[in-house]
Amino acid sequence: EPIEQRNYLINGKLFNWKGETADVFSSIQTEVNGERKPTRLGSIPSLGEEESLAAVDAAHQAYERGQGLWPTMNVAARIKCMETFVEKMKEKRELIVKLLMWEIGKNYPDSQKEFDRTVEYIIDTIEDYKTMDRESAKFYKEGGIHAHIRRGPLGVVLCLGPYNYPLNETFCLLIPALIMGNTAVFKPAKHGVLLITPLLEAFQESFPAGVVNILFGRGRAVATPIMKTGKVDVLALIGHSSSANALQALHPKQNRLRLVLGLEAKNPAIILPDADLDLAVSECIAGTLSFNGQRCTALKVIYVHENIAETFNRKYAEAVDALKFGLPWEDGVNLTPLPEPSKPDYIQALIDDAQAKGAEILNEKGGERYENFIWPAVLFPVTKDMNVYKEEQFGPVVPVLTFKHIDEPLDDMAESNYGQQVSLFGKDVKTLAPLIDTLVNLVCRVNLNSSCQRGPDVYPFTGRKDSAVSTLSVHDALRSFSIRTFVASKDN
Ligand code: G3H
Repeated sequence: EPIEQRNYLINGKLFNWKGETADVFSSIQTEVNGERKPTRLGSIPSLGEEESLAAVDAAHQAYERGQGLWPTMNVAARIKCMETFVEKMKEKRELIVKLLMWEIGKNYPDSQKEFDRTVEYIIDTIEDYKTMDRESAKFYKEGGIHAHIRRGPLGVVLCLGPYNYPLNETFCLLIPALIMGNTAVFKPAKHGVLLITPLLEAFQESFPAGVVNILFGRGRAVATPIMKTGKVDVLALIGHSSSANALQALHPKQNRLRLVLGLEAKNPAIILPDADLDLAVSECIAGTLSFNGQRCTALKVIYVHENIAETFNRKYAEAVDALKFGLPWEDGVNLTPLPEPSKPDYIQALIDDAQAKGAEILNEKGGERYENFIWPAVLFPVTKDMNVYKEEQFGPVVPVLTFKHIDEPLDDMAESNYGQQVSLFGKDVKTLAPLIDTLVNLVCRVNLNSSCQRGPDVYPFTGRKDSAVSTLSVHDALRSFSIRTFVASKDN
């Protein structure tokens, strides 16, 4: 049944929208009158300036210069609100998992994982917050000054998550922001929006009025007026840097706006001559093509030493073609329809550009199209003038380069605008040790003989250069959304 979503949440009240709406489609096609078409899943309100301003005002008032009910609420009471929310959220598991499959084409195991990981993230955040509170209850004494350190909130957070983890990554921003005592306005991602619908009442019933305000509509129509008010203290966004930059520029005092951003990456795999090739192949398959490569942590370029390139390329290309394409709920499916209607054409353009500049597709099925799906293409040899090397493809196409000397990939990483993670494959400890020392200064996580990934969520998730601002993880996000304050008193 289509979900005709009309409600939105402002200041603790669910409003029923009577104005313009926008249809939500799945790129998974179904047959309508003998014709295969993207499936209509429902519709959402196209909210505009009036509702956006009301939402940011509500968040601002609920914060009230730090004196509002929420920032001053005692820790146990705030935790109780969060616990109530997570219990209500768990009741919606089945529907949200189903919507993850339909809205963004995530396969069944990964959709379940996204939901369960989010619940776990909330529970772990609550636990970490309790520890933080216990630590802040300690008194310190230095130079005759007693200090009672407290972590305090920052204010109003505008929270915008991505389509590839519309539940999990949005909540990785929203939940720590809230538990620290901030208030928030949150707009779901463009794809993966209906799956927030079942949670509206849970938010309304769990938190005091104005603490969480939830809007629907086009990003620009909603976020632009909010940023222009200057009432946003923290821009929390996982997505593209162009969106983050544009929003930041709208803030009247952009230098004092705090940023918590997870942005683009171009994580490389570096395969040394002594690497276990079967392991490298299976890790590179997971790294490059889980969720069709639509992960900021995906491996987006492979550097393979020239001595082993032929064998690696053959094995990797065969493994790509052995993957299974299908609908998200089918058994054992790795590759699924892409949620963005324009993505297959974009991937095709990257393939065409690379081929025109001398690369070949190594796998037989590479580039095959079916409705909103394109079979992953392994491109070799890729050169730096090709768009597939220069751009964050965020989809099913894999550029492979060879190197003779390790300085070649290291130089490329140093020149890159990004610096999130790397995967390093090799065995000789004497070679690996100094390399790791160099790599940790170019990125923030070195994965030894394993693919790149964000989890487990207790580990810091961040990046250098244009890949991130601030750090997320159960532990770090609470710190990213707060400031260390203290009450000082003298020995008299
Ligand atoms: O899109 C970026 C995500 O943070 C990737 O997370 O490595 O758990 O898939 P993941």
